[in-house]
Amino acid sequence: MNYEDYLRRVPKAELHCHFEGTVRPATFAELADKHGIALPTREVDRLYDYDSIEGFLEIFGLVATTIIDREDFARVAYESLADGRDRGGLVYREMFFNPTLHTRRGVAYATVVDGIVDGIRLASRELGVECRLIADVYRQDNPAEAVAMVEQVLAHRPDELIGLGMDGAEAPDPPERFTEAFALARRGGLRLTSHACEDAPARNIATCLDLLGCERIDHGYHILGDPALVQRARDEGLIFTCCPTATATVYGWPDLTHHPIRDMVAGDLRVTLNSDDPTMFHTDIGKEFVDLCTALDYGPAQVRRFCLDAVDGTWLDDSDKRALRARVTAGLDALDAELAGAA
Ligand code: ADE
Ligand code: ZN
Repeated sequence: MNYEDYLRRVPKAELHCHFEGTVRPATFAELADKHGIALPTREVDRLYDYDSIEGFLEIFGLVATTIIDREDFARVAYESLADGRDRGGLVYREMFFNPTLHTRRGVAYATVVDGIVDGIRLASRELGVECRLIADVYRQDNPAEAVAMVEQVLAHRPDELIGLGMDGAEAPDPPERFTEAFALARRGGLRLTSHACEDAPARNIATCLDLLGCERIDHGYHILGDPALVQRARDEGLIFTCCPTATATVYGWPDLTHHPIRDMVAGDLRVTLNSDDPTMFHTDIGKEFVDLCTALDYGPAQVRRFCLDAVDGTWLDDSDKRALRARVTAGLDALDAELAGAA
């Protein structure tokens, strides 16, 4: 086993991955055909190429329009978890989905969530991969739409649905717009996270922590511009869910040796590695580990830190978290021994 195989195979918990960003190109094309939706090209993989967040979000929205029936949601969820397991040793994921991208075109919220849950339950039974769900506020929605979405989520909540997050283009729509939606979710017992500082100054992280009540931060790179906030994040053990490839592509750090993750790790922040929108960025959770850890020369000790910080960052209850930690630790121990034997 070489180091690249090792990086692919280490057992991973993933905290930052969007359901709509995991659709296989072939499934995207099939679903478009099934529903008579015309795509700009038959070479669908070419649609998964962009150089800005706006370009990406346009295709993200287009992909979402092809997922309509409960079976479509189930299929995409199942395939997404199968790909994570087969390509990157995925054992557990907390997965985002955007309710309003679907409900705004007339798909019932129950169809969306029940379909995704069908897929993740099948993946649990057949593949041994566990998954929980986080409903995402879409920042380009208005605040009232976000509140209505949270009301829907709270009114129809399978056990798997455990949190509220927020995505979309960050610069034009700051987090304070959605204080009410987050307060409602918190009162309803949901855990809270948000995309922040992917493309906006560090103060957005302070807003997410102090005003919205977020417990994790998705991305978080521009925290590096505020040393006092870095110190606070370190003191509080804040978990960051970072995504090497997606941000390299749309925010311009194409050389991973200069990705802000390097300075976050060096600054002793608790970074986890994630695939964000794997198919839509031509990546997978295994490749994220391979590309970043080889670019930055991270050895098994840092890999173990990434993996165990991800376990700590999950929103599982204590006993499930202990079980996941034991599973991940056992897998790491076995692979470390194999790697040492191969040296
Ligand atoms: N939605 C899905 N992926 C995203 C990303 N990388 N940034 C913002 N919103 C997103
Ligand atoms: Zn994301």
